[in-house]
Amino acid sequence: MNSKPPSLAPANISFFNAHPAPDDCHKVILAGLQAEPKTLDPKWFYDAEGSALFEQITALPEYYPTRTEVSILKAQRDSIAAYCGQGSVFIEPGAGNCAKARLLLDAIKPAAFVPLDISADFLFSAAQEVAAAYSWLSVSALCADFRDFLSFEQHLPAGRRVLFYPGSTIGNLDPQAALNFLEQAVSLIGSDGGVLIGVDLHKATDRLEAAYNDAAGVTARFNRNILRRVNDLVGSDFDPDAFQHHAFYNETLRRIEMHLISAHDQTVHISGHDIDFSAGEHIHTESSYKYTVDGFSDLASSGGLRRVQTWMDDECLFALHYLEPMDR
Ligand code: AVI
Repeated sequence: MNSKPPSLAPANISFFNAHPAPDDCHKVILAGLQAEPKTLDPKWFYDAEGSALFEQITALPEYYPTRTEVSILKAQRDSIAAYCGQGSVFIEPGAGNCAKARLLLDAIKPAAFVPLDISADFLFSAAQEVAAAYSWLSVSALCADFRDFLSFEQHLPAGRRVLFYPGSTIGNLDPQAALNFLEQAVSLIGSDGGVLIGVDLHKATDRLEAAYNDAAGVTARFNRNILRRVNDLVGSDFDPDAFQHHAFYNETLRRIEMHLISAHDQTVHISGHDIDFSAGEHIHTESSYKYTVDGFSDLASSGGLRRVQTWMDDECLFALHYLEPMDR
């Protein structure tokens, strides 16, 4: 489907909806809760309530990644633009409200901006705002699952491709999945493209742990909200208040781990199955990997990408890397 939104769409925008068929979430969620240790995929965090809680997290005093990355984008936009080059097709998976891309558009002057998101309504309204604010820019909004780039690749405008993946979202993938992502990115951008990617840096444990254990308890609410979402998705009877938020830095694996710990012995019912929890037993809900610059360069090289430039803040909390295919 390639259509204009119902009304008042600026002339410089197009939409394509390649939303995948819904997952069989019963099977996937049940398998995670029957595994040892029990797990839930962090993608279930992001319903409307979870996305709103994540927005609040990004403004918390303890959660430094968002404002640090924004400060790098603002301070370095001309240098970043020099690496990205002008006239590209600028693609942002998981674009959300497109706020970070908007910090760069005037400097990198892409021929087309392609915000890509799984949430159609949110994407369409954010893309319309971008199109209205940048009348010189062609905006092609794609509702699709970025992990399945074959489903939308043929709908990308022609031109040299630069993939923008801010927010250290890659940190929520385990290293093998991150590698697969980077390999996919190489096939998407081709030999003349580039990748601009934000990656949170490995650092002192107390700084990291504070970012995921904020004093206002927003991250705890975000974590527990996954149980309410699972109840909505599969009709289970989790009591979110019967689980405690627990986040710590696993220094060996260099990742923040978020867990939900059962406050007492309990049984949760899901799709005709009983899931027993003993007091203190946990569900692993998210990992957030942290990389040194060299560690991320190594990962990128294994995926076929060479690190060409890195921008960091003065405290070296966060890094923005520009990568190019090795075989250029
Ligand atoms: C989206 N992602 C990069 C966030 C992170 O820091 O890993 C998600 C998050 N989880 C708890 N706080 C923020």
